[in-house]
Amino acid sequence: MNDKELNLETRVVHAGHPEPRIERAAVTPVFQCTVYEQTDDDASYYDVRYPRLNNLPSHTALAGRLASLEGAEDALVCSSGMAAISTTLMQLLRDGGHLLVQDQLYGGTHSFLERHLKSFGMDCDFITAGDPGAWKAKLKPNTRAIYVETMTNPLLRVIDHRAIVEFAREHELVSLVDNTFATPVNFRPAEFGYDLSLHSATKYLNGHSDLVAGAVIGGAEQVRAVGSLLAILGGTLEPHGCFLLDRGIKTLVLRVRHQNANALALTQHLEAHPAVARVNYPGLEKHPDHALARELFEGYSGMFSFELTGGTEAAKRCIKQLRIPIHGPSLGGPETLVTRPATSSHAGLKPQERRDLGITDGLIRVSVGVEAVEDLIRDFDAAL
Ligand SMILES: Cc1ncc(COP(=O)(O)O)c(C=O)c1O
Repeated sequence: MNDKELNLETRVVHAGHPEPRIERAAVTPVFQCTVYEQTDDDASYYDVRYPRLNNLPSHTALAGRLASLEGAEDALVCSSGMAAISTTLMQLLRDGGHLLVQDQLYGGTHSFLERHLKSFGMDCDFITAGDPGAWKAKLKPNTRAIYVETMTNPLLRVIDHRAIVEFAREHELVSLVDNTFATPVNFRPAEFGYDLSLHSATKYLNGHSDLVAGAVIGGAEQVRAVGSLLAILGGTLEPHGCFLLDRGIKTLVLRVRHQNANALALTQHLEAHPAVARVNYPGLEKHPDHALARELFEGYSGMFSFELTGGTEAAKRCIKQLRIPIHGPSLGGPETLVTRPATSSHAGLKPQERRDLGITDGLIRVSVGVEAVEDLIRDFDAAL
């Protein structure tokens, strides 16, 4: 049956599996082996299996599954989200390219651009994604790509992805989006015309808080070019990591739809709570990007942030009182996580820089898990 005729729930379980199945196993086995027999004396180095070259059956199976989930031509997995992001940008900007990039970014990506990219002879300029009229002035003759995130962290602002893709096409730029927060369940970049989508598979794709991995998904030629640099830089995913990701991803649709529903119910409850000053979740009608999110996304994600009327001290007390959520950074696992961005993801910024971005010291970010939402609501109520 043609993959495209199948629903996401079916593809997340079956797409990409080896044909015929290896030893008829329902699960792609772990290829815990670095040496493979060479059957043809004239075979090139790249034709022989070697884990760093990203050519184990488990790599191929995962690539097929991820490409199918986002409706893209090809994909590859790598050793972390940062390996996916840094390798892709180095490939696209090699020999002195310039990048336009959204000003609100995951901290690791921001550090890579600010601290390392320039020393490799590449350059970037930050753009305000919500102000398309200003992007053109930032273009340079060597601008090659435009880079954004599906939703911003931690305020969950949404940009008009159609405008980004249109601008990229008009100016012959490669369009890239970090789709970690949304996942292919909620947003499929290739369907909107993005050239490449990047993931920290550490988060929702694996979804069990027990693996560091990344993914690059998009056009076959672009993915192949990134893959050949990745094989030399050494950022490929090792065999047991492939097995864990293969296992974790099969429940992606179930997990993310449950997390979407939990986040919506929890934010609707918190929004009406007298101790809560503000809730940032694109699924709420009051969110400034709600209409846009409704047009672009199938679900609003399991991520939200909120502030209390009692400010920072009340936020600290609330985190301490919560019994079910774990106080910790990262996101996308089965357990609900709470963190204060001012002391975690955005601790590296100066207080004024955080204020400029709208991130107060009392802001609490929540990655909603797959627990029963009634239990989460009761726990948040008790903590507040
Ligand atoms: C949106 C986003 N992109 C990329 C990354 C980097 O991923 P990794 O930690 O797997 O390298 C993260 C990590 O938190 C993230 O949140």
